[in-house]
Amino acid sequence: MRPGHGGEIDGRHSRQVELDFSVNLNLLAPSVSDALWLSWRKELSVYPPPTAREVERRLGKCLEVEPQQLICTNGGTEALHLGLSLFRERLVNLPMPCFAEYPFLAQQLGQETQLHVLEPAQWQVPEAWLYFPFQPGSVVILANPNNPTGTLIPRELLAARIAETAQIGVTWVVDEAFIEFTQGALDNSLLRLLDEHPNLVVAGSLTKTWGIPGLRLGYLASANAAWLETLRDRQLTWPLSGLAFPWAREFLSPETHAATLSGMEHYHIWRAGFQQLLEQSRLLDPLPSSCNYFLCRVAQHLLPATQLYAALLEKGIHVRRCDNIPGMTGDYIRLAVRDLADVAAFMTALNQIEERL
Ligand SMILES: Cc1ncc(COP(=O)(O)O)c(C=O)c1O
Repeated sequence: MRPGHGGEIDGRHSRQVELDFSVNLNLLAPSVSDALWLSWRKELSVYPPPTAREVERRLGKCLEVEPQQLICTNGGTEALHLGLSLFRERLVNLPMPCFAEYPFLAQQLGQETQLHVLEPAQWQVPEAWLYFPFQPGSVVILANPNNPTGTLIPRELLAARIAETAQIGVTWVVDEAFIEFTQGALDNSLLRLLDEHPNLVVAGSLTKTWGIPGLRLGYLASANAAWLETLRDRQLTWPLSGLAFPWAREFLSPETHAATLSGMEHYHIWRAGFQQLLEQSRLLDPLPSSCNYFLCRVAQHLLPATQLYAALLEKGIHVRRCDNIPGMTGDYIRLAVRDLADVAAFMTALNQIEERL
């Protein structure tokens, strides 16, 4: 079954919600002016370039990756699909909890999966995500930082495990969709170490950092020339929409990228402030996180998470329920980090709910 996501209520788009804490987009991303938007209108009536090369060149400069090692895709999910498609006959290891698309993509590709479910006490322990007995020749897919737990595995630790398991033919697909929200941003990324790990594919998404879920831009990066060739052969003609090109010309430069990353400092302050406020709540217990969302355990004996979800929704606030996240139980919710005004509105709603208990 197609998994549910943040931004959806019962399978439908949550557009009508006033405050959406269920999706984790950069609120400070550069926005498209009306004049720019109008000038892009003509792109709808002409074919886009047949390959993504131009966008790959621009993205390569921002990420400091050779453009030949990058493949741009229609969103991060397509990158994950393309990356996993390299390993059709292999067993796919799924450390869990994980992004709901991983098991779904493996199922779509007809791959056998092995689930490795971590207990909550292990979620914040970086090593716990890495030291399962992976079968020789299998593939591991995991997000760093993890979604939904927000755990960041230090790059050197992850790289050492990737190198170690290369000896038994294990391959890694590491999803860095949220890496730029972590303290240190790309210093935590495996992109800088690609050349040392031919058994690694990094998947990324521009959706979160740039706040463009509707544009659909993602990428794969690898130093494995044979895989890159296969992927380029496999990619369809016109892999990106016509709007992706003028968007990239306008925004995808090292200068704008650096300015966007410097805005992430706000997120670290907002997250700490939000968590501090929540520590006074009787209903929610926030868990540590390295990025722009975090889990909260719900005091189920006071109010079950499903009822809290409904009560917040009645007040125009949408949070991510976790009962349909693979490897999670229903006694958690996930909250996006948002600015001070939005957090104040959330806390008012939560306090009103608590007062009624
Ligand atoms: C961990 C993770 N990876 C990848 C994606 C996919 O992002 P995109 O919208 O670019 O397909 C998401 C989206 O929520 C995600 O949470």
